[in-house]
Amino acid sequence: MSTSLSHSVLNLNGQEDGRASPRLQSWVVDEATELRDNNHERFMGMGVLTAVDHVNRTLAPSLIGMDAGDQRAIDLTMIDCDGTPNKSRIGANAILGVSMATARAVALSQGIPLYEYLKIDAGYLMPVPMMNVLNGGVHAQWQGADFQEYMIVPFGAPDFRTALQWGAETYHTLQILLKKKEYPTAVGDEGGFAPKVASNEEPLELITESIEEAGYTPGREIGISLDPASSGFFSDSKYELKREGRRLDSNEMIAYYRSLVESYPIISIEDGLAEDDWKGWVKLTNELGEDIEIIGDDIFVTSRPLVQRGIETGAANSVLIKLNQIGTVTETLSTIRSARDAGWGINISHRSGETSDSFIADFSIATSAGKLKTGAPCRGERVEKYNQLLRIEEELGSKAMYAGRKAFIR
Ligand code: PGA
Ligand code: ZN
Repeated sequence: MSTSLSHSVLNLNGQEDGRASPRLQSWVVDEATELRDNNHERFMGMGVLTAVDHVNRTLAPSLIGMDAGDQRAIDLTMIDCDGTPNKSRIGANAILGVSMATARAVALSQGIPLYEYLKIDAGYLMPVPMMNVLNGGVHAQWQGADFQEYMIVPFGAPDFRTALQWGAETYHTLQILLKKKEYPTAVGDEGGFAPKVASNEEPLELITESIEEAGYTPGREIGISLDPASSGFFSDSKYELKREGRRLDSNEMIAYYRSLVESYPIISIEDGLAEDDWKGWVKLTNELGEDIEIIGDDIFVTSRPLVQRGIETGAANSVLIKLNQIGTVTETLSTIRSARDAGWGINISHRSGETSDSFIADFSIATSAGKLKTGAPCRGERVEKYNQLLRIEEELGSKAMYAGRKAFIR
């Protein structure tokens, strides 16, 4: 077993070590497949016995005996075993589980923290938390705002633990404010409140007020990030804002975002336009990309070729990174490297469906991403990532540096 991951991680873009893999470079893929059993007698078809079986019967025999420290070789072997562009045969849930478990196992066997083992840079950058405090869209069963996520971003704090404190205080101040307005304060999929607001702008008013009420300065200490997840309300070339009874085209959406950015302390917009609206993305980035981060999630699905297309066309300036959109640690790091080489922002992210696993907390430090999107300070599966970052910051002591405002490229 090798003593560090460096030989594999440093070569993840498949060029430096002569083990270039066309599989890592040329496949343009849809989001990797999460394989479910589809047997409606169990868990309404959502069981994963097939994926588990693939781990035990297909992946294990191919991997046993390999050097676990060669993450790249492990991941490429699994990609080969699967043989499809989007891991639909073996299942990305099977492959990614093994990929992440391998990294964890090696870190454990070497007696070093996971973030240390996976590290690709010098220094220890604690990420700015992007905390989704108000949920809409599909995460609130389309009962609230059309926009899926309204995040508070305490970039002005001196360190991670203070950022978390500011975020939690603002979140609970928002709860008090919602109660005063007689909105229910039940939470959505990512732990944010999910009120039936009157417009997509109302949450921005409520959040700005909460930041102030909690004692912080909007825009200087705490900013706001949006993830409208607009593919969810895009049809027939129009964006349908049901809350507002309006159907807008790309240009009108961009003008709408411009007006929101001018009125509220918005520092990034993720998936402001739909994943198929590439032309619109280029316009959006031209219009707003100097002022804020334009983050691509559904449009890039953590795929390196798609990010490269985004870089070449100027369709965004920042990427959302979700390990299970692509399905291996190696490919995720490869995408991060491409985006970073182009000067793009990097945002490591959870999923709305999550477990209490905290791999992404370590991963955000390992990759010096500077930003981690992992929900409200609420619901165990979200809070666990924040707790892990608290533990890491404590362990690192003076070696930890809070990414702060610099994490944002604009
Ligand atoms: P998802 O949402 O995990 O439901 O895709 C998260 C996001 O859109 O960022
Ligand atoms: Zn998103």
